[in-house]
Amino acid sequence: MSFKQLTSAKQLSLEEIEVILEKASEMEKILEQKEECNLLKGKIVASLFYEPSTRTRLSFETAILRLGGKVINAVGEENASFKKGETLYDTIKTIENYADIIVMRHPGEGSAEEAIRATNKPFINAGDGAGEHPTQALLDAYTIKKEKGRLDELTIGILGDLKFSRTVHSLVFLLSNYKVNFVFIAPDELKIPEKVVAFLKEKNINYKEVTSPDDVMEELDVFYVTRVQKERFEDKAKYEELKNVYYVDAELVQKGKNDLIVLSPLPRITELSTDVDNLPQAAYFKQVKNSVPVRMALLDLVENSD
Ligand code: NCD
Repeated sequence: MSFKQLTSAKQLSLEEIEVILEKASEMEKILEQKEECNLLKGKIVASLFYEPSTRTRLSFETAILRLGGKVINAVGEENASFKKGETLYDTIKTIENYADIIVMRHPGEGSAEEAIRATNKPFINAGDGAGEHPTQALLDAYTIKKEKGRLDELTIGILGDLKFSRTVHSLVFLLSNYKVNFVFIAPDELKIPEKVVAFLKEKNINYKEVTSPDDVMEELDVFYVTRVQKERFEDKAKYEELKNVYYVDAELVQKGKNDLIVLSPLPRITELSTDVDNLPQAAYFKQVKNSVPVRMALLDLVENSD
């Protein structure tokens, strides 16, 4: 493993992704067998969440505890010294004196890159504004591999707010290491950003852009559903106009292949109906479960590999 600091899914080579996924399946076995694990024994991890989180923070903290490590945390910008005007640089320069590993979510796009200018300690980006969310992409890939048996030769449909969803940006970068086709389903206002498209062109990955899921459902192997990212809109009226642009329900999902899987990083608001939950295609709560072994694998690799 060549990195100790993970800020972007673009950093990861095919070999590194495979190492992480392999390590995650070892971690899953450890969890299933309830084996004691001491890979982070004596280590302190700082869990810094300056933006709301349920799954990412709690699964990271679960992963740390399952590895025998200890956690210190900061939750909410309101409670941090940013409130007094401190820079992110100074905050990280401070925290690196307390912790062995730093996990950070922050509302600023590019904040993960900014943070690592202040420290050489192992660092994991848990979401930087509308930028990236590489650990979510890894657990998405782990779930796809587990459910479909492969990451190659798949058509991946991604629906919703492709502009602001950091999970989408990281997932596209990550899966571009494989032989996949992308179908981007978004209204014009929420199209996949040019920087992601440019990356796909450079890598020679097939993609197409459509505005409605109806005509493409039958082509998909994976259907990744995202919410419209309310907190990124400066124009609240625009959010109101777009928030219900899609509604994925059992009827739509059943238009797809029988072995289609439906993923979502969650939370869901109104875009994904609970009537999908009981279909065999629904895999979003499996993603939640897989997040712990994947984050255990990453924490172990950033701390313990040379
Ligand atoms: C995502 C995030 O925070 O980017 N959630 C998560 O980490 N599971 C997706 C979202 O908030 O829509």
